[in-house]
Order: sequence, then C-alpha cells, then structure tokens
Amino acid sequence: MNDLLLRVNEKLKKYGQEHLLWFYDGLSDEEKNGLLNQILSIDFAFMANLYENSMKNDTNVLAKVTPLSHIEKERLSQEEIFSYTAIGETEIKQGNFAVVTMAGGQGTRLGYSGPKGTYPLALKPIKKSLFQIMAEDIERANERYQVTIPWYIMTSQENDLMTKAFFEDNSFFGYPLDSVHFFRQDKLPLVGIDGNFILEEPYRIKEGSNGNGNVFAAMKKNAILGHMKLHHIKWISFGGIDNVLLKNVDPLFLGMMVKHGQVTASKTIFKQEPLEKTAVYCRKNGKPAILDYDVIDLALSEEKDESGLYVYREANMLSHLMSFEAIDYIADIQLPYHRAFKKNAFVNSEGVKQVPDKANTFKFENFIFDAFSFFDDLLLLRVSADEEFAPIKDFRGMYNPDTAREKYERFWNLRGD
Ligand code: UTP
Repeated sequence: MNDLLLRVNEKLKKYGQEHLLWFYDGLSDEEKNGLLNQILSIDFAFMANLYENSMKNDTNVLAKVTPLSHIEKERLSQEEIFSYTAIGETEIKQGNFAVVTMAGGQGTRLGYSGPKGTYPLALKPIKKSLFQIMAEDIERANERYQVTIPWYIMTSQENDLMTKAFFEDNSFFGYPLDSVHFFRQDKLPLVGIDGNFILEEPYRIKEGSNGNGNVFAAMKKNAILGHMKLHHIKWISFGGIDNVLLKNVDPLFLGMMVKHGQVTASKTIFKQEPLEKTAVYCRKNGKPAILDYDVIDLALSEEKDESGLYVYREANMLSHLMSFEAIDYIADIQLPYHRAFKKNAFVNSEGVKQVPDKANTFKFENFIFDAFSFFDDLLLLRVSADEEFAPIKDFRGMYNPDTAREKYERFWNLRGD
C-alpha cells in the first residue's frame, strides 16, 4: 500500500469515514489520486465539530431581543428623498460605488441544472437570464450617471467555470469587460444526516459553497478588497442573483446611509402575516441581528412601538450596503456557521448515483446578515415588495419563476419600459 493511501486510511478510520474508499479499487489512477488528495485536503476535525455543534440547541434563543428601528421609504418627505438621492448620486458619479452579486449558491430548491444566474426567465418577447437582468439593472445606472460601476460577481467552485463561460457566450451582456470581476468563494463538504460525508461520484466527495456570508473573507482572499482600495471604492452594494427586481444601484439608499453616518445598511420588506415563516431584524444583546421565525410568537410579531408601528416585522431581502472599511474589518472575522438542509445527489452503497426526492444533506453556511452583529448599528430602510422583491427560489412555492416574471413585468410595464 502506498504512503498516501496509508495516511488516508488512517484519517478515515479515525473519523469513521471508511466508506469514502468503497469504490477505490475500481478507479483510474487519476481518479484515485484526486480522491486521496481531496480527503487529505478536508479538515475532518473541523467538520466533525460543525456537525456536532449543529445538533445542540441554539444558544441564541437565550439572547435578549429588542427592536431595531427602521425607516419606511413611503413615509419620507419629498425633501428627504431629494436630498438623500443627491448625496447618493454624487458618490456614484465620483466613482466611489461598486456592486457585488452573490451568485455562489447551489440553487438546490430550483433544481435547475446550471448556475442559477443562467436561468432563463420567460419574459416577453424574449427570455432573459438572471445575469442579464442584473447586468441591465447596473447598465441603466451607468448610463444615467455616465460612469462604469465596477461589478464583482461571487461564484463557487461548482459554478465558476460555467458562469464565466456564460458571460463570454453572451458578450458580457454589453457590460465593459474590464469592469466585471469574478471571484470564487470557499467550499465545505456536505454531510448526510448521520454526519458522514457523501460521494457525488465514486471518485469525489460532495462539496458545496459555504454560504453567502463567506463573501467578505472571499473578497479578501481573492484580492477583491485590494482592487477596490486601488480604485477608491467607498461604498459597496451586496445582493443575491435571484431577485429580479433587485435595485443594485439605489442613490436614495446610499445617500441615506452616508447622511446618517452609517457603515452598514439593509433594505427590508414588511412581513405581512405575523406567523409567516420569515426571519426579521431585531437587536440581540444590543447588536443588530436576525430573529429566526421559529422563535417568533404571535405576541412578539404583533408588538408595536409608541407610535403604533410594528417593531418585529422587517424582513431581510438580501439587499445590503456597506462601507469599504466595514468590509475590510469583517473580512477577518469568522462568522458563525448555520446548518441548512438540502437535496443533493449521492452515490449509494451499490455505487449507483441516486437523486433523492427530498432534502438529504446538511450544508454548513455563513450568512451575510451575521456580519451586522459585529457593528453597533444598522440602518434599515423598508421598501415596497412590489417594486423591489421578486426572488426565484423554487418551481412551485411562493417565490417561483412565474411569480417573479409577473412582478417584473408588472413593474416595468407600469413604468412604460
Ligand atoms: P439562497 O439562500 O437562496 O441559496 O441564496 P441558494 O443556494 O441560491 O438556493 P438553495 O437554498 O440551494 O435552493 C441566496 C443568495 O445567496 C447566494 C445565492 O447564489 C443567492 O444569490 N449564495 C448562497 C452564495 O452566493 N453563496 C452561497 O454559498 C449560498
């Protein structure tokens, strides 16, 4: 037995993961080598720790929860709108602003084969991919403000090559080539319910992106922060790839953050139903945080402030703004890992690839909103869900391609686009 194999066997035995070599003898030399090196590259102790900790009760439930105040866009006066917008526009025109699109997710719920950003939304008269919709959104701002906003796109190991090829095949949707920058986020192995790693091929362990909260560390690791610094970027907008009404460039929102002297800001939408399965913003032990829906009861959801406004109804819509300094600071901090339950194909004990019909694997992810707990304050701006929130999450649920398409068409037709 060669040296490499010996070391791998020892490691597998120590962590009870011997099943990873079940098909080893039938692999080609290249596949054997790939698998052994992959096993050696994975931090088994770290993964075992994540898995075990995720089985314990969430200690956050014990945190002292208080409201985090918000501003409602529809309550702003014309004067406020005008002055905030002017401040934001100046920053954009001066080239101080950049956009980050987080497109490293697996999109397991949608079940579409290919990066989610390449999903073709059936708009009339032509289909548009989610990447095209994002590109057009930023291009409109470029035209309006006569600038080229740097566009940074986070991919994952799983979708990086396909994403880049898609941009090339589509001539970058007309976006200036040297202003589009891809960077790849980190990955972690997925584990089954029993805590065991799974094989996606007889020669490869299934690994996946480690959550959108990895964006800051990935920006640092891939020299994106250095690039931004060089280009004097001061303000950065963060958004997901799957909200087709996302406003990547919003001078009002930016101006408001600048004027209020804040370094972090998030847009919210109003949580309509008190017991809807939606997390909301709050403060935990004084710091901005997210309150999971499973700890929100009716009384809390119905709580109002002295002016009669709900205080725990501001839902996260994955649209954030941060200053460069705030990102630079948070990039060195390890955010907590959350456990997501996802559907992933695997090789069964007979060596046959199986596609499960329901979630079967745990994926450990950092969430971007956890970054806000490392700051004292977070500006919340509530916007209209009809105007800014049309995500695509799965084919049948509340946020499917049809609901997103309808909202997108309604919004743009209303405005005679
Ligand atoms: P979701 O939490 O909806 O996850 O991502 P997802 O991976 O796209 O889809 P499911 O849960 O597997 O069905 C929200 C946004 O965060 C990005 C996604 O690409 C999407 O834009 N994201 C998510 C990342 O960039 N990296 C990740 O590791 C996870």
